[in-house]
Amino acid sequence: MADLKSYFETHKTRFLNELLDLLRIPSVSADPRFAGDVKRMAEATAEHLRLVGADNVEVFQTAGHPIVYGEKIIDPKAPTVLVYGHYDVQPADPLELWESPPFEPVVKKTKNHPDGAIFARGACDDKGQFFMHVKAFEMMFRNNELPCNVKFMIEGEEEVGSRNLETFCLANKKKLACNVVLVSDTSIIANDTPSLTVGLRGLCYMEVEVTGPNRDLHSGVYGGAVANPINVLCQMIGSLHDKKRRITVAGFYDDVLKVSTKERKMMNNAPFDEKAYTSDLKIKEVMGEKGYTTIERTGIRPTLDVNGIWGGYTGEGAKTVLPSKAFAKISMRLVPGQEPKKIAKLFQKHFETIAPKGVQVKVTEHHGGHPVVIPTNSAEYRAAEKAMEKAFGKKPLPQRGGGSIPIVAMFKDVLGVNTMLMGFGLDSDDIHSPNEHFGLFNYYKGIETIPLFYKYYSGKK
Ligand code: BES
Ligand code: MN
Ligand code: MN
Repeated sequence: MADLKSYFETHKTRFLNELLDLLRIPSVSADPRFAGDVKRMAEATAEHLRLVGADNVEVFQTAGHPIVYGEKIIDPKAPTVLVYGHYDVQPADPLELWESPPFEPVVKKTKNHPDGAIFARGACDDKGQFFMHVKAFEMMFRNNELPCNVKFMIEGEEEVGSRNLETFCLANKKKLACNVVLVSDTSIIANDTPSLTVGLRGLCYMEVEVTGPNRDLHSGVYGGAVANPINVLCQMIGSLHDKKRRITVAGFYDDVLKVSTKERKMMNNAPFDEKAYTSDLKIKEVMGEKGYTTIERTGIRPTLDVNGIWGGYTGEGAKTVLPSKAFAKISMRLVPGQEPKKIAKLFQKHFETIAPKGVQVKVTEHHGGHPVVIPTNSAEYRAAEKAMEKAFGKKPLPQRGGGSIPIVAMFKDVLGVNTMLMGFGLDSDDIHSPNEHFGLFNYYKGIETIPLFYKYYSGKK
């Protein structure tokens, strides 16, 4: 692959500048005010696929944001890799916490990225990561070194639950037929410790509304005699964990598959520096379920977290009010064995049961997703492992990731194929947070590693 090396050196500055241009498009899928930018981003993605030589490039409209498709079929007998990624990004707020504007990318050095990192919303999640695949494809195709058929499917609704992707996959099964789905939307342990994500947690996302009196009341006139829905909601939320920080929702752990002592031991052999972890987050100590390490708490244990809570008066100064309503968004990360729909029902029932008579509760369900486990005894795992070993000079460790990519389970159900997660971000890259960034080392290492995956996956030594 000597040609690829020199092609890479010649074009790497352009590779970076092209990504920076894409990062200037604020393709926030959650906020309808950005719908035009999301569309522009889809078109820019399609244009890039055309530029690098992909065929049948198309922007497919959906009931929501478009899906970008492109392909290169070199040989019907060669294996086919379906690259999945997402061009949409999370909202950038709170804006005031960004050191530079979220859609004006800049390169700055950090502790974890001494060679520099690109700061922008979507740099790591997932524009920088899906674009590595476009550039890796360019390198292989332009140098006649593409050993597999490639299909790209880049969507614009991952951050809002991939609402229309299943319909698209069901309607285009033939077009999307492949041997494996390849995704770069996860992390490695560190730049000198490559890893492959072999598990993702599922998700169950609920919203609760607690109603007390039929209207806001004077907190002096009525206070003390009528249930305050915010007080009640806080108590209810407080009761959702016990002293050992286990979740109290009845039946919550019933289906959790046991992880063997051997596997737990192996997981904990991965390097983890608790001091660096706490000092990076400026916390005095970690906190979580008793009896589990931090690696286990984020990898193999389910969680329940309040994502947002509101109600009453939150404006300037003080207003003495006993609010009529209180709200919260509560998400649960699920592990293998747990079924999102079942957990949603258990949560709803539990929440209704613990509500005092003085209030009414309404529980609604948002999008969810199934947990996944990626086998390590597959051709794609071996190819990814070899590719990373060659590129990093170190064999990657299998590691379970704490985040969720709900469509991975859908790919198996609808397309009948496994997914390989070969991400290059770092957990400290602040995805979904202010000052999201992606290391230049990581971006370039990804572009270098992907062609090696294709090479080994196609059976070359
Ligand atoms: N890329 C992330 C998921 C991720 C990040 C997995 C880091 C492993 C390590 C993805 O874009 C994401 O944010 N997923 C959402 C779920 C979705 C339904 C909104 C998540 O995990 O919260
Ligand atoms: Mn992502
Ligand atoms: Mn995300």
